Amino acid sequence: MKNKSEKNQELIKLENFIDYNKDVKEEETAFKKLMFVYSLAIRELETKIGILKDEFKIFYNYDLIDHINSRVKTSDSIINKMKNKGYEITYRQMVENINDIAGVRVICPLKKDIFSVRNLIKKLPEINIIKEKDYITNPKPSGYSSYHMITEVPISLSQSLIYVKAEIQIRTLAMDFWANLEHKMSYKPEKDIDKKQQKEWRNCAKMIEKLDNKMIYLNS
Ligand code: GTP
Ligand code: MG
Repeated sequence: MKNKSEKNQELIKLENFIDYNKDVKEEETAFKKLMFVYSLAIRELETKIGILKDEFKIFYNYDLIDHINSRVKTSDSIINKMKNKGYEITYRQMVENINDIAGVRVICPLKKDIFSVRNLIKKLPEINIIKEKDYITNPKPSGYSSYHMITEVPISLSQSLIYVKAEIQIRTLAMDFWANLEHKMSYKPEKDIDKKQQKEWRNCAKMIEKLDNKMIYLNS
């Protein structure tokens, strides 16, 4: 078997893949290339996490994961986020600071499955974990509750190996229901909701938490 160095594949940084100091969208080809590698990161994660889902079903007859969603952030959404956060609109700032251009969401039936999936992802040999946020143990003030991981995924192209960042969000089916509705109503800054509505959303999140805790008990 050949080892890595004989494979003639150069490990390159994303910053050397395109002209980093150009303005985002100034050069369309660079943007296309970048979006392509981000979409490959999603493909890799979907395959790897999908294998775990199927393994648990076939080997243990257990539905560890209900489904997996993914998306590449749109250029408008990337640029808006960069403007809101006060970054210069260059590829450098985009690649270094926007961690959720590639996003994968793993939806589990039960709350305890979230931590199993987290542990299994951590064990995947090629995936590097850069940052984790546990909003399951400590929900956000809005009531939002999910497990977040910022990862680095190796992408193997014909001449090069590139590490690309991707965000994984892991949450329950019930919390996904809450988060999808709440996101439309209040998370996006263009829609300001008042204090009373915020409290109502928090109350709904608390009900979801109770429901998720009860489901663990009923399924044990
Ligand atoms: P962003 O800059 O928005 O990505 O936030 P961050 O870098 O502080 O990261 P955080 O982990 O808090 O949130 C990242 C992502 O989690 C968001 O893009 C949303 O998809 C989701 N999220 C975070 N907070 C909320 C919330 O209160 N409600 C909903 N519906 N989603 C949220
Ligand atoms: Mg986001």
